[in-house]
Amino acid sequence: MDASDMGVDLNEILLTAEQIDARLSEMAAQIDADYEGRDLLLVGVLNGAVMAMADLARKLHNRANMDWMAVSSYGSGTKSSGVVRILKDLGTDIHDRHVLIVEDIIDSGLTLSWLVANLRSREPASLRIAAVLRKPDAAKVAVDVDYVGFEIPNEFVVGFGLDYADHYRNLPFVGTLAPHVYGG
Ligand code: PRP
Repeated sequence: MDASDMGVDLNEILLTAEQIDARLSEMAAQIDADYEGRDLLLVGVLNGAVMAMADLARKLHNRANMDWMAVSSYGSGTKSSGVVRILKDLGTDIHDRHVLIVEDIIDSGLTLSWLVANLRSREPASLRIAAVLRKPDAAKVAVDVDYVGFEIPNEFVVGFGLDYADHYRNLPFVGTLAPHVYGG
């Protein structure tokens, strides 16, 4: 899927596929340097992080294992509440492992905050976070994010794994939707 397939539903491309790819290369180089000589476990947060995980993992030169968690956040509408339910847990015991959470976006930061507390209780050797996108509200939550791709404005974005009503995840870029799509 690309911009031409969206027609009038696309408002604006915020980040092109090329910009995302270049930034992920930089992040991968930093991660390679930071984890040199250590076995890394990448934990992708389904569904949104699929593209980020696939691209970032393939750019790493160091060895990396991959595992996945699916969580659902209770909330009203598009806002998450911070109360999270595990839909799919890790298949890996992360005790004493070097774990890097891979997220597509940190919006309110509540999902990540819960996830960090949950994974920390399993006593990994280290726990860090990589996110492709971060919105301003994430600053309200006290979670250190070690690798951030882009700081973006507080707009509803789709593409590169991010959805609206489960659509548009398969766009190669990050864009905003025309208001008529979501009744705005
Ligand atoms: C998105 C995204 C993060 C979370 C961020 O997932 O992938 O996990 O929201 O929001 P927060 O910072 O406000 O908690 P979502 O729950 O939409 O599920 P999805 O990944 O399946 O789209």
